[in-house]
Amino acid sequence: MEKSLYERLGSAEGIKKLANDIAENHLKNDLIKTRFEIIEDLDAVKNLVFEFICAGTGGPQAYTGKGMLGAHKGMNISEEEFIAVIDDILKAMDENNLGEREKNEMLAIGYSLKDEIIRV
Ligand code: HEM
Repeated sequence: MEKSLYERLGSAEGIKKLANDIAENHLKNDLIKTRFEIIEDLDAVKNLVFEFICAGTGGPQAYTGKGMLGAHKGMNISEEEFIAVIDDILKAMDENNLGEREKNEMLAIGYSLKDEIIRV
């Protein structure tokens, strides 16, 4: 049977590393780092992003966080900031030697969420 995106991302171990690297890239990204520097419990947010990616790509994990609208409501996130987050995701995927197909699939998932995140 065809492997799920979850498996192609390296299952729980691969996605744990990916979620961590995405957050680390955000902290180095001048366009958005202040958004992430002020988070009190970054490990908890990293874990929710881990669960979100797992649950959204075919993994067995349950996502226990807020919906994307609720999570980002009132933050007034701009289009530029949204693209910066997408760029950091793709950069982290490059750093973890993930393929073009996997990057395109993650890009499509990310893009599909834009109306729940930008200026909500
Ligand atoms: C496809 C794009 C994105 C996805 C999949 C995503 C996913 C998530 C998830 C799963 C959470 C945890 C939700 C919870 O607390 O229950 C979260 C929180 C957060 N997101 Fe996003 N996010 C995206 C874009 C953005 C953007 C563009 C920004 C701003 C530059 C941003 C800033 C934040 C912040 C600051 C939090 C933590 C809020 C807090 O608890 O203090 N996110 N995001």
